[in-house]
Amino acid sequence: MIIELENIYKSYQNNSSSSQIKVLDNISLKINSGDSIAIVGPSGCGKSTLLNIMGTLDKASSGIIKINNDDISKFNDKKLAEIRNQKIGFVFQMHHLLPQLNLLENVLLPTLIVKETKHKESAKSRALELLRFVGLEDKIKQYPGQLSGGECQRASVVRALINQPEIILADEPTGSLDQESADQIGELLSKINKEQNVALVLVTHSLELANKMKVIYKLNNGKLNT
Ligand SMILES: Nc1ncnc2c1ncn2[C@@H]1O[C@H](COP(=O)(O)OP(=O)(O)OP(=O)(O)O)[C@@H](O)[C@H]1O
Ligand SMILES: [Mg+2]
Repeated sequence: MIIELENIYKSYQNNSSSSQIKVLDNISLKINSGDSIAIVGPSGCGKSTLLNIMGTLDKASSGIIKINNDDISKFNDKKLAEIRNQKIGFVFQMHHLLPQLNLLENVLLPTLIVKETKHKESAKSRALELLRFVGLEDKIKQYPGQLSGGECQRASVVRALINQPEIILADEPTGSLDQESADQIGELLSKINKEQNVALVLVTHSLELANKMKVIYKLNNGKLNT
């Protein structure tokens, strides 16, 4: 088991009416190692909110989140940052690569704050291996501005994998790409899920991508249904 959500509620303050908007309404969900899950639903239904809560980037209004059986409410911010860095890989709609670093430097960035030197020594060879895996071995010295959107997105998948996370959380990873690049990223993510047994939770508007996952959840009116 990796991540468990129990009775998660999330409300936001509505600035124009001083009322609360209920976005997540008693959501419980278990993500086990190697799972592949798609979350679909209309714009504004709370998909990103749910994914961000899963990834400890956002806090639930109430409910319990456990990572490897530990209730995360007992962790301080430093510990949470460490979990995010080492156990979770994030992929967003926009790649968020740093323009002043080349591709290799960008994908190595998450390894710079890892303490163990054993990790650091193997990081570069792992980066090169992963960049080869996604077909970017010839582009490692290029800067993001010199690469296509699809290439940058493939690099951001490598960056998400560099610290050998147990789970990847991807929020519309193909949202900014053309059909062909979107297909490549979809293939890449499901290949990593199957071959490297990394759990995958992705939010998508693409039914084609969702259908590559074992389970599809629909989020609507704050509830999650299969
Ligand atoms: N910081 C915030 N303050 C107030 N309301 C917010 C905040 N963040 C999100 N919301 C509201 O919560 C709801 C869910 O937002 P969320 O971003 O999770 O939707 P989504 O399903 O990811 O949508 P999309 O498919 O368009 O990305 C929306 O109605 C949004 O307006
Ligand atoms: Mg969203």
